[in-house]
Parts: sequence; C-alpha cells; structure tokens
Amino acid sequence: MQIAGSLCVVSGASSGIGKATATELARRGAKVLLVARNAERLEQIASEIANAGGRAWAFPADLSKPQEVEALGQAVLEAHGVPQILIHSAGTGAWRFVEETSYQEFIEQMNTPYFAAAFLTRAFLPAMLEANQGFILSVCSPASRQVWPGAAGYIAARWALNGFTEALRADLYETNLKACAFFPGKISDSEYFSRNPDTENRIPRVGRFLPEISSRQAALGIVRAIETEARTMFVPWQLGAFDLLARLFPRITERLAWSSGAKRKTLRVKG
Ligand SMILES: NC(=O)c1ccc[n+]([C@@H]2O[C@H](COP(=O)([O-])OP(=O)(O)OC[C@H]3O[C@@H](n4cnc5c(N)ncnc54)[C@H](OP(=O)(O)O)[C@@H]3O)[C@@H](O)[C@H]2O)c1
Repeated sequence: MQIAGSLCVVSGASSGIGKATATELARRGAKVLLVARNAERLEQIASEIANAGGRAWAFPADLSKPQEVEALGQAVLEAHGVPQILIHSAGTGAWRFVEETSYQEFIEQMNTPYFAAAFLTRAFLPAMLEANQGFILSVCSPASRQVWPGAAGYIAARWALNGFTEALRADLYETNLKACAFFPGKISDSEYFSRNPDTENRIPRVGRFLPEISSRQAALGIVRAIETEARTMFVPWQLGAFDLLARLFPRITERLAWSSGAKRKTLRVKG
C-alpha cells in the first residue's frame, strides 16, 4: 500500500514504537494523525514533524473510553476524511503473576492494547469499508504467540490483540482492506519498561539471545509491512525463527521459556 499521500492514524503516538512510526510515515509523505492521552507530547511531536517538513496533527484521546473514541472518529472524519492506514500501537501493562494482579489491573491490561485497537477500528471501519481501501496494522508482541511465567494478564491482552487482528483479516476477506499483525522484539529505547516497573526483569533469560531493536527499526519494519501489505511480520528476523521453532517443537521452547522465566519470590507451588 502506498504511504505517500495517505492519511494515517497512529495510536500510542506519544512514545516508543508509535512515535517512531508516526515520524517515519510523515517522512514518507503521509498525513499523520497522532493519538494518545498526553496532548502536550502529541503537540510537540506534531511540531517536530512539521519542522522536518512533514504533516501531522494531534488528536488526544483515552482509547479505553468508547465515547472518546467515537468523538475522535467523528472529528477525524470531519476534519481530514477517511484514513487509509490505521496503526494500533497504544499499549500498557506490567507483568504480574495472577495472584499479584488486582481485579482492576486485569481490566486495565485489556484496555490497552486490546479494547483500544477494537474501538479505534470500530470508529473508522464503516468509512474505510465504504472507501474499500485500507491497511490496519496491530503492534503485537512475542507475547501474542508465546507464553512465559509471571505475565498472565499482559500476555492474555496481547493474544486478544493478535486474535482480533486475525479475525479482522477474515472479516475483510473479499474487500480491499488488509490486516497485519506486527511482532517487534524488545525495544532498546522505549519507555515501556520504565512506565511498567518490575517488568523488564521478568523477561525470560532465553530472550537475551534475541537481538534488541530500536523503536526506529520497529517503525521501519512497520513501513515495510505496509508497503508489502504483509499479513504478519517479525522484527528482528530471529524472532520469527524462534516463533517457527516454537510451532515445530513447542515442548522445547516452552521448557526454555518456563525454566528461564520469572520465579515467584515467596510462594512455590511445586518442588
Ligand atoms: N517496548 C518493547 O520492548 C515492546 C516489545 C514488543 C511489543 N511491545 C508492545 O508494543 C506496544 C507499544 O509499546 P511501546 O514500547 O511503544 O510502549 P510505550 O513507549 O510505553 O508507548 C505506549 C503508548 O500507548 C499510549 N497509551 C497508553 N494507554 C493509552 C490509552 N488509554 N489511550 C491512548 N493511548 C494510550 C501511550 O501514550 P499516553 O500515555 O500519552 O496515553 C504511549 O504513546 C505495547 O503494546 C507493547 O506491549 C513493546
């Protein structure tokens, strides 16, 4: 799908992968609409993009709130028309064992990324179907396909996002709209782990064999996924190789992830 001249809505655009993706899309001539809660940051990123010769507008919204998403959708359609590209990169949630997770945290983990992506898609899909053109990409996670200990609510929300994206692709069969699940490895320069404390230390040690990537490298992968209309994409490629290994030999990769993953500090159920 052609990026230059297209209208792109990027969620999670105030930080990390979303911010880097918005910047790369604007650099390639797209009109970019930046969505996240932090209005000040979005305005600053929009002016950085404008100073570099690009076109971007801030649309602050809390994507966990259906009314805000609905209002955002209407405001975008009125001011800019129908988007051709939707990028779902809003996501949050600390990694916790089930018994460490409060009821409220389970809900919040599902809010972003899953409900945010479902609501934002819902807001634009009727107009995009009418235009019969579009590319919808979800920034998933290795956790959207693999599991490890100590992150149940986080992992469930990433499986939900991946499941939604796969189901959306089925819904879009026989239209000119495409859905893509994008899987980045660990991002070296994202604020994700400082925003979600006591999470980074729970990455299974086996994950250290996979190279980290910058948010710009993730964004360049997203650009490639759009240009090639990919169904799925893993960046770095080694993550895709590990995923294939997990499909072929699930017990081996399970064992590696489980045994090198987080351990409960106090409660031991086995052993
Ligand atoms: N970082 C990694 O190593 C990594 C690796 C693989 C996959 N991922 C996944 O990629 C996604 C993005 O990660 P990232 O590293 O870019 O994280 P990040 O830097 O923490 O950015 C998260 C973005 O989500 C936005 N957001 C959070 N809650 C929101 C809400 N209710 N409504 C609207 N926007 C909201 C935040 O903006 P506001 O706070 O301004 O709302 C921010 O722009 C996450 O789902 C993450 O799990 C990350």
